[in-house]
Amino acid sequence: MDKIIIRGGNRLSGTVPVSGAKNAALTLLPCALLTDEPVTLRNLPRLADIDGFQHLLNQFGISTSIAGARPEDFGRVMTLQATRLTSTVAPYDLVRKMRASILVLGPLLARAGEATVSLPGGCAIGNRPIDLHLKALEAFGAKIELAAGYVRAIAPDGGLPGGDYSFPLVSVGATENALMAAVLARGTSTLHNAAREPEIVDLCNLLVAMGAEIEGIGSSDLTIHGVQRLHGATYMVMPDRIEAGSYACAAAITGGDITLAGARMEDMAATAQALRDAGVLVEAVRGGVRIASDGDLRPVTLSTAPYPGLATDMQAQLMAMLCLAGGSSVLTETIFENRYMHVPELNRMGAHIETKGRTAIVHGVRQLHGAEVMATDLRASMSLVIAGLAAEGESQVHRLYHLDRGYERLEEKFALLGADVERVGGD
Ligand code: EPZ
Repeated sequence: MDKIIIRGGNRLSGTVPVSGAKNAALTLLPCALLTDEPVTLRNLPRLADIDGFQHLLNQFGISTSIAGARPEDFGRVMTLQATRLTSTVAPYDLVRKMRASILVLGPLLARAGEATVSLPGGCAIGNRPIDLHLKALEAFGAKIELAAGYVRAIAPDGGLPGGDYSFPLVSVGATENALMAAVLARGTSTLHNAAREPEIVDLCNLLVAMGAEIEGIGSSDLTIHGVQRLHGATYMVMPDRIEAGSYACAAAITGGDITLAGARMEDMAATAQALRDAGVLVEAVRGGVRIASDGDLRPVTLSTAPYPGLATDMQAQLMAMLCLAGGSSVLTETIFENRYMHVPELNRMGAHIETKGRTAIVHGVRQLHGAEVMATDLRASMSLVIAGLAAEGESQVHRLYHLDRGYERLEEKFALLGADVERVGGD
């Protein structure tokens, strides 16, 4: 398995291109199921999860073609076409590798009137139930059966009638599945307390470009008027606000000065505020966002929350940065029950972090020390890289496949910024 060797101490500087958003792409790809016409997605990031999703969609008879991207290009253009579906089953061996596969449930149900999807297991950060996905689809008129580790959803003959559902708690994926099911329903559907993440707005924008009728886009109250059919579209995936925030933390901890090309400040306002509170300069510049720090970081108190609150996907990266703050920071993780796996590894690098339930106290230290560390989940892995960039000496981050799921060619991007990083295969 690959690992990354990082020799810490370089101040990051220069410009880094922000890739298309993984968590937008993973909900835009299944929209191709909703029409028999071609859907073309531009600015798709080259990530393991995108490849996995493409393979899953091929299982249903969707043709996919990648337009000529040069090897040195970031991002790709993919055209998908579901002329007719040859299957409505998402098998265990594919779903277990990528939980986001559950996002085919709504569109398969909408297009074919039925779907059979393996229940996605939990993952390192929590048990990740899908009860809210199923309750929303039931509210829209679907019949749901659970058997042998699969969920089977069936629309009454003629298709989903549509309905109303109020989420008891905010769920990004459940909102996405419900939206993709409702756009072809026979009637009107409403969602209350829906997720408002920018990735949801991206999904709504693509669906509208395909002919869907959605009101309240960007708010937590959505109204979807079902239409008979949707047509193809060409759509640009939004920039990845979590990737941008991750590189911002790397610049901050190394006392660097970088520009995140393509980043949209409005998507990352909560992260920008957290960085500013820590004494980091964050400003919108032409074509992106500039991040600069003199390396003197202030402790802060942060709590993750659904958008527009601070993204849970930024917690580990901000924690790594705060390891070198001049004082103690308090972080509270309100979304997932087990999202502190990076803490023991950061402490092995000389950090001083105490956790108690959902709260972590990050006592700033003067120096981190390079070490061999193990990646456990996607964002935890990036936090170890961020720490390694500032640590004295050499760090090795093992199990890079976690990172490759969500960060496009990160060693090349960090090299663009002057970091001393090297990917080494086969350990
Ligand atoms: C999406 O996961 C993202 N993944 C996650 O990013 C992100 O952390 C999360 O949203 C929160 O922003 C993708 O978009 C592919 P949720 P999702 O449903 O949809 C509970 C990353 O690092 N819940 O908003 O699975 C759930 O357990 C990944 O890129 C239920 O109880 O998140 C969690 O505590 C990690 N029942 C909370 O809601 C349900 O049916 C929020 O989960 C669904 C969720």
